[in-house]
Amino acid sequence: MTIKEWRVFNPGGNKRVIVTKELPGQRWLDALQHAGCRVEICTSPEVLSVAQIKAAMGARCDGAIGQLTEDWGDELFAALKAAGAAAYSNYAVGYNNVDIDAATRHGIPVGNTPGVLTETTAEMAVALTMAVARRTGEAERFMRAGRYHGWLPTLFMGELLRGKTAGVIGAGRIGAAYARMMAEGLKMNVAYFDLYPNEALETYIRDYSAFIVARGEPPLTCRRLETVEALLREADCVSIHTVLDKSTHHLINADRLALMKPNAILINTSRGPVVDEAALVAHCRQNPSFRAGLDVFEDEPAMTPGLVDLENVVIVPHIASATQWTRQGMATLAACNVAGRIQGFPVWPRPDITPFLDGDFPRASPSIVNAANLAIPVF
Ligand code: DGY
Repeated sequence: MTIKEWRVFNPGGNKRVIVTKELPGQRWLDALQHAGCRVEICTSPEVLSVAQIKAAMGARCDGAIGQLTEDWGDELFAALKAAGAAAYSNYAVGYNNVDIDAATRHGIPVGNTPGVLTETTAEMAVALTMAVARRTGEAERFMRAGRYHGWLPTLFMGELLRGKTAGVIGAGRIGAAYARMMAEGLKMNVAYFDLYPNEALETYIRDYSAFIVARGEPPLTCRRLETVEALLREADCVSIHTVLDKSTHHLINADRLALMKPNAILINTSRGPVVDEAALVAHCRQNPSFRAGLDVFEDEPAMTPGLVDLENVVIVPHIASATQWTRQGMATLAACNVAGRIQGFPVWPRPDITPFLDGDFPRASPSIVNAANLAIPVF
């Protein structure tokens, strides 16, 4: 099956790169043009199937940029290799839709886009936490329905967050940014569960606590807990920032939800299948004071029956990284991943990818997740 809706940029380029969705900004196109690429962009909003992507690759394709909604597995990487490609990049930091082992077997480097989603995604997790705590979804629906007939002492009472405990599952870049925002903005203590201690985060909050104590505020703590269960029991709101893999699939299930406080808050901006959505629906039904904020869903774009009817859940359509700066930055990083490999460049060695976002393009690919296995040199 083919799709007719393709737009061509730089038709005279001597390398051919396919991009399965329109991406925002211009710099990503400049990066590919700079590398001599003709860029073919699918303008259809529909999710492309494996067959459609293969058809788009054709007999010759030097690189591809794909989406988290697509299934990049053995079939596509075999086709990409046969078409002579130098690289694939996901337009996302997460790559649970990509079979990295298959890509590596076929010798295809796989790029992702870390470093530009951190604060943006953390801000959405904070926004959901506050929307859920203060019931803004319910209250807005109430207003729009013309049901507000005057101020009342008990109308839409929610939860005060200040001084309580924010729980973070997965204290990597985004989780740590969320933790700092909750500590600095709302003066919440932080508890986190992660396989590894985040000493930089603990030190930051310890130093911040000293700063506010000197100004007469109560101290704040940041502690790593040994188990998810301990975190769920203790935290007043829990935000999930883990990757999705076999070990985190349904990490939050009925048994673990039952450990949470009856008026706790659960936020998910990571990947939908980390939460057993049917169990969450049942839990929210049985515990009207429990609240959840979801940016991601187990079977996107579908939602588990009953979820949309729950007043105690705030739902948004996977937009945690949707700011101009971040989405344009993701496009630039994905393009530089592909353009860098097409030109035979090494991989960028540092987490700070900002040099790619402005000025001359560094002669490197910003983030290739299987670089070590493919023995790609470091810049
Ligand atoms: C990612 O990059 O993994 C995000 O989910 C996109 O918003």
